[in-house]
Amino acid sequence: MELKSSAITPGSLAEAMSSADLSRLPQIIALCSLKGGAGKSMFSGQLAAVLSQHGKAVVVLDCDNEGSMLSAQREAANSGVPLPFPVEVGTRDGYKRRARELAEAGNMVIIDTPGNSRELLTGAALVADLVVVPVSPSEFDIDRLGGLLEVLDDLLVVKPNLNYRLVLNRYDGLADARSLDKVLDGHGLPRFQQVIKEWTVYRKFVRGQVPDKAADPFRALLLEMLDMEVQA
Ligand SMILES: Nc1ncnc2c1ncn2[C@@H]1O[C@H](COP(=O)(O)OP(=O)(O)OP(=O)(O)O)[C@@H](O)[C@H]1O
Ligand SMILES: [Mg+2]
Repeated sequence: MELKSSAITPGSLAEAMSSADLSRLPQIIALCSLKGGAGKSMFSGQLAAVLSQHGKAVVVLDCDNEGSMLSAQREAANSGVPLPFPVEVGTRDGYKRRARELAEAGNMVIIDTPGNSRELLTGAALVADLVVVPVSPSEFDIDRLGGLLEVLDDLLVVKPNLNYRLVLNRYDGLADARSLDKVLDGHGLPRFQQVIKEWTVYRKFVRGQVPDKAADPFRALLLEMLDMEVQA
């Protein structure tokens, strides 16, 4: 499939976001993967940052015991530039109810889940309007796809209208990346055309605070969620 990795016209995506009807976006988005370190927390932070920049009320529900997003919030506050969105702890017993409550109150909700928890992956996927699964083109991730496919198959039994999409993270266009590409195409898995490159800014900056140019690929993902043709 044709992949896209960078904006052609600087500012075009920000403009497209400004004129888009963002109320059509999925209200509850869950970031899920079976593998740790796939990019769930980074995506949660960047998506929430871009959404709040474009005027959406958005709350991150951090369901990871390690509390990456909570630490990011603390780190940002200590640096004097607080995150532009609130982060709440999602407790095991309460996160689904809380996600619904927040959504009913008019917020978008981003659920950040831990790696390696089928239970949370399943629970978050059931409450979410869209499940975003970051996968990176290391051999390890390619091997792990089998497990992911199993979980998705199980989920589709209980939620036949499950809306999920994979997204390539740390994409470098090299051999592993191209082979993951083929594997995904072979399985006919739904995925975003937009890929996220390996980029030090995503590591270096406190989550949710990156230069505008690095936010563009996340704008493109959101526009894809609206099924808009993006020039990225
Ligand atoms: N595209 C990228 N470019 C550079 N660094 C990245 C990229 N994606 C993720 N990272 C970095 O890789 C590390 C792991 O990412 P992240 O914490 O988002 O993964 P995770 O899926 O939330 O992990 P866990 O399952 O442990 O919660 C972080 O330091 C993050 O900043
Ligand atoms: Mg995480």
